[in-house]
Amino acid sequence: MLTDLYELRDDVYRRPLITALQRIGLGPGWKVADIGAGNGDVSVALATQVGRTGRVYAVDIDPLRRNEIASKASLFSQVLAVTQAVEELGLPEKVDLVFARFLLLGVQSPAVAVSKMLGAVKGGGWIVIQEPITSAGRIDENPLSADTSAIKWPDIGILVPKLLADAGVELKDMWAEAPVGFKSGPEVDYLFHMTEHPLPQEATVVLPPLVTVVGKLK
Ligand SMILES: C[S@@+](CC[C@H](N)C(=O)[O-])C[C@H]1O[C@@H](n2cnc3c(N)ncnc32)[C@H](O)[C@@H]1O
Repeated sequence: MLTDLYELRDDVYRRPLITALQRIGLGPGWKVADIGAGNGDVSVALATQVGRTGRVYAVDIDPLRRNEIASKASLFSQVLAVTQAVEELGLPEKVDLVFARFLLLGVQSPAVAVSKMLGAVKGGGWIVIQEPITSAGRIDENPLSADTSAIKWPDIGILVPKLLADAGVELKDMWAEAPVGFKSGPEVDYLFHMTEHPLPQEATVVLPPLVTVVGKLK
């Protein structure tokens, strides 16, 4: 079930991921880190761009994610799975880019996590954060009512620009993008996973917008 949710998430939120990678000009040879890598979908997207001469550190606190990442990335020798908390982040080298998607909503202190991630990036390098505003989802005209009690920061997306600006990052680009579905399809399935309530038969769903913030270090 968890893997299904990851697969669906990757599907419905793929567009902002691709847009962000194009925006920073990610290319062959880059050294990058995907923090809170989950099952490795973002890591694989990064690996296809950095090529064999690049490197992707796929970092996750959960040791069980290691095998998932390894199997997903088996064709990409440039992906290294690392079991580590963002709060303890210590990579063998500084990277050109740190990427985090759906990470900050679950950490104890987003500010600490941001500061640790920034410490892993070279001067002049990039940070890309993608986080949701969960409460801004819709089912038809109605606000989404998911049980977010287990999520520490369900609306963290709205706080990310200030978090990065306060940390001294130059904000290069920011946008919010919300996948929309009607009646059936991955967006509707994803929302069903989130709410665990049956949806109206011909519902139009607007998933929680994903805020992307692209920042550059001095
Ligand atoms: C919601 S999943 C997102 C996975 C992936 N980034 C994506 O967008 O599909 C969050 C991931 O962050 C990991 N995580 C949670 N807290 C963490 C922490 N403090 N340090 C590192 N990883 C963490 C979880 O184990 C989980 O795999």
